[in-house]
Amino acid sequence: LFNQLKFKHRSPYKNFNFALGRTTPEHIDSLESFEVKDSDAFLVTYPKSGTIWTQQIIISIYEQDGHPNECSTNIERMPWLEYETAEYTLLSSPRLFSSHLPEYLMPPAVKEKKSKVVYVMRNPKDNIVSYYHFTKGHKNTETPKSFEQFFEWYMTGRVTASSWFDHIRGWYSGRDQYNILILTYEDMIMDLKGVVKKLCSFLGKNLTEAAIDQVVEKSKFDTMKNNPKANYQHFPPEWFNGKFLRKGQIGDWKNTLTVAQSERVDRVFQEKLGDLSLKFIWE
Ligand code: A3P
Repeated sequence: LFNQLKFKHRSPYKNFNFALGRTTPEHIDSLESFEVKDSDAFLVTYPKSGTIWTQQIIISIYEQDGHPNECSTNIERMPWLEYETAEYTLLSSPRLFSSHLPEYLMPPAVKEKKSKVVYVMRNPKDNIVSYYHFTKGHKNTETPKSFEQFFEWYMTGRVTASSWFDHIRGWYSGRDQYNILILTYEDMIMDLKGVVKKLCSFLGKNLTEAAIDQVVEKSKFDTMKNNPKANYQHFPPEWFNGKFLRKGQIGDWKNTLTVAQSERVDRVFQEKLGDLSLKFIWE
């Protein structure tokens, strides 16, 4: 189903799951000595939390600040740290990275607080449904026979990036060690312009109101859907035959989760994260 990577040095968990064939334990371990530049920025998410959306926002902010995106797709402009194929040594500064890494596998140099981390979270009920549709379209991982089956995989962390609950706990409880901005997908839906402004101030970009409006326009669901750099439709259908820009809503889980499943998420959320001051908008 995926590589279950075990790490000698850094793992408080038994393993961390990555998409099949995309990386190796050696590559992940090599990140321990990854050299970070002060101008680097890292976008970190659990999958299906608004990664490509935030990529588009960050890239557009940098464009407005005089750093045009000369890559053919956003995935090249903000390559994944954990994939072996990432040619990040070729990137010119300011470098922008994406990652689904858990906090404990992040390059330790990021903790020196010079480079920046943007962490985006999404409520787990919408996250599960989005992840289910994504996995159905993904040809390199096992296809779930039903939503029920996928729900079990998700709740037990048998998906790429392992458990949502562990990912959130690691980053949220470790946040003080980083120069970090934590955002939620729901905030982005409810107040995109407000989030763009927060990002500008965190990234140290002083944009005019008109430039901010342009970033907002470029990051809207429909604009992104029609932008080949941003819509991730360049994957060959034999690898991925689905849509990254699917519905883009809060509360769509109500059409899929049963009452029992929803209550189980609530229970596990309380058990695993109840002691943290986390608040999500669920619908
Ligand atoms: P849905 O499947 O619920 O529609 P990721 O980029 O982490 O894989 O997350 C994908 C999710 O983000 C999808 O959710 C997708 O529709 C949503 N998304 C991407 N761009 C968006 C945008 N501009 N506005 C709202 N949602 C967006």
